[in-house]
Amino acid sequence: MIKPDAVEKGYTGEILAKITEAGFEIVAMKMIQMTRRDAERFYEVHKDRPFYGELVEFMSRGPIVAAVLKKENAVEDFRTLIGATNPAEAAEGTIRKLYATSVGENAIHGSDSDENAAKEIAFHFAQREIFG
Ligand code: RTP
Ligand code: MG
Repeated sequence: MIKPDAVEKGYTGEILAKITEAGFEIVAMKMIQMTRRDAERFYEVHKDRPFYGELVEFMSRGPIVAAVLKKENAVEDFRTLIGATNPAEAAEGTIRKLYATSVGENAIHGSDSDENAAKEIAFHFAQREIFG
C-alpha cells in the first residue's frame, strides 16, 4: 500500500516506477480510502501498541493505493526496497528514505510474510481483480 501521506503529496507515480524498475510486476491495483474500521482491522496485530490510535487515524485520513506485486522472493525483496520503518534509519535510495516523513507517516506498507501477504491481498481484492 502506498500510504495516505505519499498519495497526498503526489508521489504515487514515482513510487510505482521505483517498484516496477526493481522488477516487481503489478498484478492488481486500486485507489481506495479505508474507513477507520478497515484500518483497525488491517493493523489489528498492533492494537495494543501505543501508536495504534494514531496509526488508524493516519491510514484512514485519505486514499491509499493498494497493489498486489509479483516477484521471486517478493516479501523480502520488497522490504529491502522500502527500507526501515523509521525513515531516519532507512538506507539511501529506499522508498522510505526518499518519500517518508516520520516513523508514523512512512509512505508505504509491505507485507512481512507470505502468510500475511495472502491475508492482506484478500482484505483489499476480490479474485476477479487479480491478474497474476
Ligand atoms: P508496515 O507494516 O506499515 O509495512 O510497517 P513496518 O512493518 O515497517 O512497521 P510495523 O512495526 O508493522 O508498524 C506498522 C506501522 O505503524 C506505524 N508506526 N508508528 N509512532 C510509532 O512509533 C510507530 N511505530 C510504527 C508506522 O506507520 C508503521 O509502518
Ligand atoms: Mg508491518
